[in-house]
Amino acid sequence: MSAGTSISLRARAVFLGGPGAGKGTQAKRLAAAGHVAHISTGDMLRAHVNQGSDLGKQAKSLMDGGKLVPDDMIVAMVKERIAQPDATAAWILDGFPRTLPQAEALDRLLGASAERKLSRVVYFQISDAELKARLEGRRNCNQCGAIWHVATKPTKRVDTCDACGGALLQRADDRPEAIDKRLQEFHKLTEPLRAYYQNKNLLRIIDASRTPDVIYQELVQLMQ
Ligand code: AP5
Repeated sequence: MSAGTSISLRARAVFLGGPGAGKGTQAKRLAAAGHVAHISTGDMLRAHVNQGSDLGKQAKSLMDGGKLVPDDMIVAMVKERIAQPDATAAWILDGFPRTLPQAEALDRLLGASAERKLSRVVYFQISDAELKARLEGRRNCNQCGAIWHVATKPTKRVDTCDACGGALLQRADDRPEAIDKRLQEFHKLTEPLRAYYQNKNLLRIIDASRTPDVIYQELVQLMQ
C-alpha cells in the first residue's frame, strides 16, 4: 500500500508503547489515510507549552525532565478533545492512557455505550536499546510536525523538513538524561496497562522493531 492511499478505518484505538516506539509515526499515517482523528497527548501538551498556557507552564519542566504530567490534567485535556466534532466517530489515541488511573478514566469517559467503546489497543513492543537509538536521532519539524531521524529517516537537506521546508529541532526530552527517566516511567507506570487491556481482550502486540512500512501494513489489517 503506497503512502497516501485512503483506507477504511472505523477504529477507536489506543497506541501503547515505550517512548520512541513509533506510535506517532504510525498514528499520523494511519489517521491521515483513514480520515480519523489523531489524538496525541504529547503533541497537545507541546502545543500548550508553545502557547505559554497555564497548563503548558506546569507541564514543561515535567516533560523536559522525562516525568509524566499529573493524571487529572491529562484526563481533563482528553475529555475536552474527544468531545470535539472530528473525534466523535473514530480516533487513534497516541500516548494516552499511560497510567492505570488514566485507563480507568478513559473507560468512564467512554461509558457503557457500544458505539463509543474502545475497539483496539495496540502495544508496540521493542527493546530499550532500540528506543534510545530512535530518540537520540529523532528530529521534528517545528512547522508541520513531521518526524524524521538522522540515520533511519534523514532529510535531503540537514535540519530542513522535506515536507514543508521548516526547521528541524531536537525535543528537549530526547536528551540522554530525560530518555532514561522516560524509560523508567514507562516501565513502572505504563507497562502495567498491557495486563489491564489483555484482561479486557483488547490487546494486540506488534513487533515494532521492523520497518515502518511493514508495521503499517500490519496495523491496517488489525484496525480495519
Ligand atoms: P509523547 O510525545 O507522547 O512521547 P512518548 O510516548 O515518549 O513517545 P514519543 O513521541 O517520544 O515516541 P513515538 O512512539 O511517538 O515515536 P516516533 O514515531 O516519534 O510524550 C512526551 C511527554 O509528554 C511525556 O514524557 C510526558 O511528560 C507527557 N505526556 C504525554 N502524554 C502523557 C500522558 N498520557 N500522561 C502523562 N504525561 C504525558 O518515532 C521515534 C523515532 O524513531 C523517529 O525519529 C522515527 O523516525 C523513528 N522511527 C519510527 N518508527 C521506526 C521504525 N519502524 N524503524 C526505524 N525508525 C523508526
